Amino acid sequence: MSEKKTVPAKYKRLHDVAPSPAYAAFMKSGWAASPLHGITAGPATPWCVARRDVLSEAFTGVRVVLPAGNFKTRSNDDDYRFRPHTAFAYYTGVQGVEATADAVLVMEPTGAGHRPILFMNPRSSRDTDAFYRDARYGELWVGRRFTLDEAQARYEIETRKMDELEKILGEKKETVVLRGEDAVVDDQVVAHKRDEELMIFVSEHRMIKDAYEISEMELACESTARGFADVVRALPAAVATPRGERVVEAAFFGRARIEGNDLGYGTISAAGAHACVLHWTRNDGEVRPGELILVDAGVERESYFTADVTRTLPISGKFTPAQRSLYMLVYEAQNAGIAALKPGADWGDFHRACQKVLAEGLADMGVLTVSAEESLRPEIGLHRRWTLHSAGHMLGMDVHDCGQARKDHYIEGKLAVGHVLTVEPGLYIQPDDELFAPEFRGIGIRIEDDFVITEDGCRNLSGSLPRHPDDIEAWMASILR
Ligand code: GLY
Ligand code: MN
Ligand code: MN
Repeated sequence: MSEKKTVPAKYKRLHDVAPSPAYAAFMKSGWAASPLHGITAGPATPWCVARRDVLSEAFTGVRVVLPAGNFKTRSNDDDYRFRPHTAFAYYTGVQGVEATADAVLVMEPTGAGHRPILFMNPRSSRDTDAFYRDARYGELWVGRRFTLDEAQARYEIETRKMDELEKILGEKKETVVLRGEDAVVDDQVVAHKRDEELMIFVSEHRMIKDAYEISEMELACESTARGFADVVRALPAAVATPRGERVVEAAFFGRARIEGNDLGYGTISAAGAHACVLHWTRNDGEVRPGELILVDAGVERESYFTADVTRTLPISGKFTPAQRSLYMLVYEAQNAGIAALKPGADWGDFHRACQKVLAEGLADMGVLTVSAEESLRPEIGLHRRWTLHSAGHMLGMDVHDCGQARKDHYIEGKLAVGHVLTVEPGLYIQPDDELFAPEFRGIGIRIEDDFVITEDGCRNLSGSLPRHPDDIEAWMASILR
């Protein structure tokens, strides 16, 4: 049994104190009705019908439960911004600020198919205490949410209040749950041998993107490209500010919040040798003229589709010869990776194409103690001292999308039309790497773009951002002039 936490009286806030009957009655009276008019189906709503049909077919006769998840505490009574689990959003069409914590999609079996029911916390209407007392959900604290009818109109799914969930889950029926997202739901349903299969299924289902998803990703890339232009515009201020990497991070974040739902992942703003730390998200360093800055950032749209783009930019607007020569090697590696993207190719082909160019370039520079061919043998791999990571991953509503897919469907599978993935080779010369001449030390370069596989190869969704050093210099000059 859990013990109820007591709060010292001096810390109690007004809403923690029980209202007087007179105040409670007063708060419930004198309000005009305020239905939302003109609610139409959400942009993903029509696409979700087909998605749920596929899910339904895979779990005939079995109840399927997909929780959105709960608020995550940031500190004390302050929560992180809520973002539902991707699978919940994928099958409901819930997006952006409309999402409510704790919601659960239940697919209730009906003979051959399923009836979807969305359990949610609806609007705290004026006949409740919650609208003025509940700091997490109350309308006067956090804003208006959909009523059940409004949500039903938006998602075209039957909606019910959260407190009816326990009853339906208590009705004995084979039930699979996407576990680990909502402890209350997990506790209410006994584990099922197909729970893991559900987790894999919802991950693999998203591998082929439909037309709506691809257009969302294209729009995410367009917002991201504008975010990178903001980054370039912010460089003079970044140079002039002690923690200039934060100036860059903030510039991109502004674009993500103004045009999208949020960032798709924590921005990497890595100037100078920080670029050699793969996930440099501290972003507390200086931005110095003459060095490079590696920025890995993506705008997540209201639909939760995100871009994942990296550009490595000369802070003063021009590459030095050493920077340019390393950059060109990564650029050629990325070109080779892009050329390997086509339906039917092995997943690993584009990675191997990138690695071949990088290993040959490193051998030509005289830093490899074996030939490129030797190094490229999986059991040797010396070039990986400087390439460090694989050349890409699936992309979608999660930045590393489809992460629970089985190996033979993903990293040991083949590319297919509708796959969306990144190609992101890099070279990282640590500042204390004595195998390289001093002018190369502390340079980290990654170039990352997002591609959809098409019948005849691929399309670069982030292609509006320049990649070649000449084009980068011209683009930066056009922004900074
Ligand atoms: N931004 C993380 C990645 O590129 O995989
Ligand atoms: Mn990536
Ligand atoms: Mn990235």
